[in-house]
Amino acid sequence: MVWLLLLLLLVRSSLHRRIEHLHALPLLVRRYVTECVVNEGLRLLLGGPMRDTWLCPYVEQQSQTHDDQSVVMAYNGEGRFLHPPHTVDSVYECSLASGCGLECRNRLVQRGPTYRLEVIRCMEAKGKFVKGWGVRSPDFIPKGAFICEYIGEYISDDEAESRGIRYDNQHMSRLMDVVGDGRDVVRMCIDATRFSNLGRFLNHSCDPNCFKQRVFCDHNSRLPRIAFFALRDIPPLEELGYDYGYQDVPGKTFPCLCGAWNCKKLLY
Ligand SMILES: C[S@@+](CC[C@H](N)C(=O)[O-])C[C@H]1O[C@@H](n2cnc3c(N)ncnc32)[C@H](O)[C@@H]1O
Ligand SMILES: [Zn+2]
Ligand SMILES: [Zn+2]
Repeated sequence: MVWLLLLLLLVRSSLHRRIEHLHALPLLVRRYVTECVVNEGLRLLLGGPMRDTWLCPYVEQQSQTHDDQSVVMAYNGEGRFLHPPHTVDSVYECSLASGCGLECRNRLVQRGPTYRLEVIRCMEAKGKFVKGWGVRSPDFIPKGAFICEYIGEYISDDEAESRGIRYDNQHMSRLMDVVGDGRDVVRMCIDATRFSNLGRFLNHSCDPNCFKQRVFCDHNSRLPRIAFFALRDIPPLEELGYDYGYQDVPGKTFPCLCGAWNCKKLLY
């Protein structure tokens, strides 16, 4: 009987923890969205679509007609990114106009995440949660696998400048620089403050296990999607982190608390 009671208590407390975790996410994020929203100011700046459609790189008879960028075969048959980080400018996934079916292997990010992800409080030394929240997975994530996107609100560079001052004062920035593809001159940012998915909770690491990659899934859109892929095999429950790649900011520093063996001690 005592054992039964103990078992019930255990199950209840673990259930409670999981429910707490699930309820915490909407409280942490103002508007949880699964695709980016576009700020009106940026929409006006961008104008209409500018890119031609691209054909599926896996439909052999079409391969003659590709230009250099669209010919990149990004993923293998198991849905793993095939190239070293930061060597492919943009991935162009197949879309309605590509002449292939939904099962085509060149449609990965558009299908959404498949590994489970948890938002966690990140403990630092001395029992403090100084880094805020972070992300991990209870699943093993193999090298090259797609993890999730960084989703938020696309804003213009000018708008990001003014919002950035406010965020810097709060020591918490959820801005990510985004550049259109080589033919596009518009510089923009994804701000994951008001609108976001859980991609905004990935912290910086000086020894990253993820990297970000620009992906286009629709020739009608000039807005690249930012996808995270596994840089190496990631064991369950290891915190996910990528290199923020921050430039030095004159007169300002921000301590890095990633805890990696090679930590540079400063984010910028
Ligand atoms: C995109 S958010 C990441 C999620 C954030 N930890 C939270 O609780 O919402 C970026 C912010 O997280 C914090 N951060 C991320 N990586 C960090 C690191 N390695 N060391 C210290 N702070 C970090 C900084 O405040 C940074 O401005
Ligand atoms: Zn295709
Ligand atoms: Zn570090």
